[in-house]
Amino acid sequence: MEFQAEACVKEYKERFLEYYDELKWLYCEIYENKMYMFNSLCSSMYQFYTGRKNSLKNIDRKRIKNPYWYKENKMEGMMMYTDAFAGNLEETRKKLDYIAECDVNYIHLMPLLDSPDEKSDGGYAVSNYRKVKPGLGSMKDLENLAEDCHKRNISLCLDFVMNHTSEEHEWAKRAKCGEAEYQKRYYFYDNYDIPSEFEKTVPDVFPVTAPGNFTWIPDLQKFVMTTFYPYQWDLNYQNPVVFNEMVYNILNLVNKGIDVVRIDAVPYIWKQPGTNCRNLPQVHNIVRMLRIICEIVCPGVLLLGEVVMAPDKVVPYFGTLEKPECHMLYNVTTMASTWNSVATRDIRLLRKQMDIVNSLPKEYTFLNYLRCHDDIGWGLDYKWLIQFGIEENSHKEYLNSFLTGQYPGSFARGELYNSDPASGDARLCGTTASFCGIEKALADGDNKGLEKAIQLDLMLHAYMLVQSGIPVIYSGDEIGQENDYSYHQIPGKKEDSRYLHRGNFNWKLAEKRTKNGSVQQKLFDGIKKLGNIRKRHIVFDARADVWTVDTYDNALLCLIRKYENEKLVALFNFSEYDKTAWINEDDGIYKDLLLNKEMMAKDIYMPAYGIRWLLKK
Ligand code: GLC
Repeated sequence: MEFQAEACVKEYKERFLEYYDELKWLYCEIYENKMYMFNSLCSSMYQFYTGRKNSLKNIDRKRIKNPYWYKENKMEGMMMYTDAFAGNLEETRKKLDYIAECDVNYIHLMPLLDSPDEKSDGGYAVSNYRKVKPGLGSMKDLENLAEDCHKRNISLCLDFVMNHTSEEHEWAKRAKCGEAEYQKRYYFYDNYDIPSEFEKTVPDVFPVTAPGNFTWIPDLQKFVMTTFYPYQWDLNYQNPVVFNEMVYNILNLVNKGIDVVRIDAVPYIWKQPGTNCRNLPQVHNIVRMLRIICEIVCPGVLLLGEVVMAPDKVVPYFGTLEKPECHMLYNVTTMASTWNSVATRDIRLLRKQMDIVNSLPKEYTFLNYLRCHDDIGWGLDYKWLIQFGIEENSHKEYLNSFLTGQYPGSFARGELYNSDPASGDARLCGTTASFCGIEKALADGDNKGLEKAIQLDLMLHAYMLVQSGIPVIYSGDEIGQENDYSYHQIPGKKEDSRYLHRGNFNWKLAEKRTKNGSVQQKLFDGIKKLGNIRKRHIVFDARADVWTVDTYDNALLCLIRKYENEKLVALFNFSEYDKTAWINEDDGIYKDLLLNKEMMAKDIYMPAYGIRWLLKK
């Protein structure tokens, strides 16, 4: 029976009717003749709306009035694993004072839904979307945490792992028992004919730790598609039951008070033989439907797309201005280019990347970060770099050698990730502090080296904070937490070097943030000061015009921001040598916001790893 919008509450009806045609069109495009499924989606959406708490509906209404809320320069985020940060959800709730002390008003809690202990990929193999992993607490704890966050004006982001379920998920278990209905929710094949077709065109995500895209299930004598780890079974979104049910899982979560849904590994959700099974047009169709569904049911909720791809693949996930898809995307190429600049002391590629980002519509919001829970991949623009004689393979080798501390004179400490001897390719893991040299300097008792390392760490944070969008700090980076090598001894973790930078938050170390002159105090206060300046000045608003200017030195990056009556000249020295930025913004007196000193924006002395934020009124 067709869903009757007439009977709905007024605000819902209006929103539903605004999007109805487009939603129906998109649905029918991929699920032809499945109108009964569409109608059941529509009625369930309304049930989720009616089940949404009034407090959340009020937040929705407030955000509809100010759709700009998440783009404001007062936004600052932090990401963390619940267990690594505080043990569980309830303890995390008790630590909100610390979060507030960091001036953070957006937290991303890494996957916390139920997943097996060992085969969990850090929680990215979900066995039950309606249950919190028991060690972390309950759905009630999650709701309480969200409520307390809202009282403090903190938004809560949670992962939604949508490409696959754990092999322990009820659907997977029933599929394993031979139930055809559940097998149809995954990609099952009786023999290797079709899988071998896929393998010709689909690259490996984990070429070393999980090569191949299919797994043989002996009990069933069938292959199942597993793009990531063998225990993560790819969901078949060509089956509308999968789409509908996953939408219900999302809506159930947001009704617990989640503000931002991080749609994990979204480019992978549609598969077709003969393609690389990434970014297919149907993926955009599905993301647009998710956006519409949220706009109707919970319009205050944002979608953060996890698209770790080249820029030309990332940007389409914003959709168009008329038909937006994700509200936010990771600024992944900028992040990787930043570490390229650290290792090479050369900002030319980073500057080019900034110019690309700054030329995009200002409505597109990026999530800026120095590192996250995942590895750093070297998806750099090698076609452009080759003009300087920089060739892909040898350059990646250099970056990895430098950032793992192998290269002579390197201050960095990190480990390779999925180093593939066949292709010579490898990615990289490590914490910001360890990459910046804090770990090495402390181990060597090298005070001078330590000062430089702290300065580099602060400079990188200043650079992250100067960009438009939401800056997100990885929990622990604010106190300079080093690599955690203990994962080498832990079964289920030791094969995955990403655990190197996912260590437990060290509360003992955090206490030192109040001890004058400690590494922790310098970083904590330094980052806080930068963040506060960012929040105070309208020039950091995402509506600002942003451009780069030449400094006539490849190690010095200069960014200019202009908005309303403010202009900011921001300079960053990516080298360990003192330098001069040969700029000439010759229009009066500027104030150095960090030194509180007046100066001209002309021929500026830049100490090693120095930062200048010069404001002209
Ligand atoms: C995303 C996550 C990553 C995980 C993968 C598979 O890329 O960030 O940690 O391994 O999805 O779910």
